[in-house]
Amino acid sequence: MDLFEYQARDLFEASGVPVVPGIVASTPAAAAAAAVKLGTPVVVVKAQVKTGGRGKAGGVKLARSPQEAAERAAEILGLDIRGHRVHKVMVAAGADIAEEYYFSLLLDRSTGKYLAMCSREGGVDIETLAVERPEALARVQIDPIIGLDAAMAAQIVSTAGFPAADHAAIAEVLVGLGRLYRDNDATLVEVNPLVKTGQGEIIALDGKVTLDDNADFRHPEWSAYADTDEQDPLETRAKAKGLNYVKLDGNVGVIGNGAGLVMSTLDVVAAAGANLPGQPRPANFLDIGGGASASVMADGLEIILSDPQVKVVLVNVFGGITACSEVAKGIRDALAMLGEKASKPIVVRLDGNAVEIGRHMLIEAAHPLVELSDTMDAAARRAAELAANQE
Ligand SMILES: Nc1ncnc2c1ncn2[C@@H]1O[C@H](COP(=O)(O)OP(=O)(O)OP(=O)(O)O)[C@@H](O)[C@H]1O
Ligand SMILES: [Mg+2]
Repeated sequence: MDLFEYQARDLFEASGVPVVPGIVASTPAAAAAAAVKLGTPVVVVKAQVKTGGRGKAGGVKLARSPQEAAERAAEILGLDIRGHRVHKVMVAAGADIAEEYYFSLLLDRSTGKYLAMCSREGGVDIETLAVERPEALARVQIDPIIGLDAAMAAQIVSTAGFPAADHAAIAEVLVGLGRLYRDNDATLVEVNPLVKTGQGEIIALDGKVTLDDNADFRHPEWSAYADTDEQDPLETRAKAKGLNYVKLDGNVGVIGNGAGLVMSTLDVVAAAGANLPGQPRPANFLDIGGGASASVMADGLEIILSDPQVKVVLVNVFGGITACSEVAKGIRDALAMLGEKASKPIVVRLDGNAVEIGRHMLIEAAHPLVELSDTMDAAARRAAELAANQE
């Protein structure tokens, strides 16, 4: 899960990493009030979107009065920055920047270690720097058991070539960021720019934090980060039911077991729809997982059927641990539960564990919306055809 900059700022502050004061606002009037409250001669109005390059897209602007802060907020709110609509801005106290640096700490899965990257040349497009002058970007591997301690921080600042007089102050901030990374189960903490002010203070002026979703069971406080503006309502509901669901933009609902099978089902549906009118495409990814029970199947079907874009549902299950009889029971139960609300055709391909029982159950139930198909290709073709006919 990615955090907004203002959430990262709050986390930095709580962990003792120096930041400038910042207040979130979702209207121009609230931005003006925030500028009054900050009371600094200059404030910066910053778009809060979970994507980079905000500055270049016109999402970061200076204001020299509360009135100007309101005007800048009015320009930024509602902007579309690389597909992300701006619902909120952060009004931050203007910093007196002397130098801009770059620092990031991330999980490097290929080495099983942390990777710290640091440069004296920050604020700029770090990807360009990494490609054009890789020597200007120090890379230091960190053993996760030891973490980013004082010795590692010293190594990072000296590898990055900071003047000796700045070593201690920067290293101290890096240790704070390392602690934050570990204590919050982050997979990424990036500060671009980390700045030195005219007074010689080191401050994190921008923050990007990614938290490891696998750790959310031990962070009840993360529920405060739920992003209702960004997240699709169906995804929110699916998450609450513990389902692996991703909304896509097509009209063929897809349910399968195992991420690999579901992904190949998406490909087969897209291929089957390519030459049909309206080009039917997958409406979602939904993996009911291994050993899924009838109730998981029913939950999944209910979510997909409530998606107004869905014209037809394709259930593609290869029974391994999941018995096809459970899947059939789930389909039957979901249809019974939904009653009139289930008004879309469902193409079902079952194979593997307990396939005969599963098929028999569905044939016996003889639900008018359910059709059985023998193979994955045939099922995908049939689902795409049904979707095309309804366009
Ligand atoms: N509080 C501040 N005071 C003064 N200048 C600021 C402040 N915040 C940002 N800036 C200036 O604006 C530049 C861009 O800000 P920031 O890094 O937050 O956005 P960005 O880099 O465009 O966004 P992203 O990091 O998401 O790509 C900074 O490099 C810095 O020069
Ligand atoms: Mg930045």
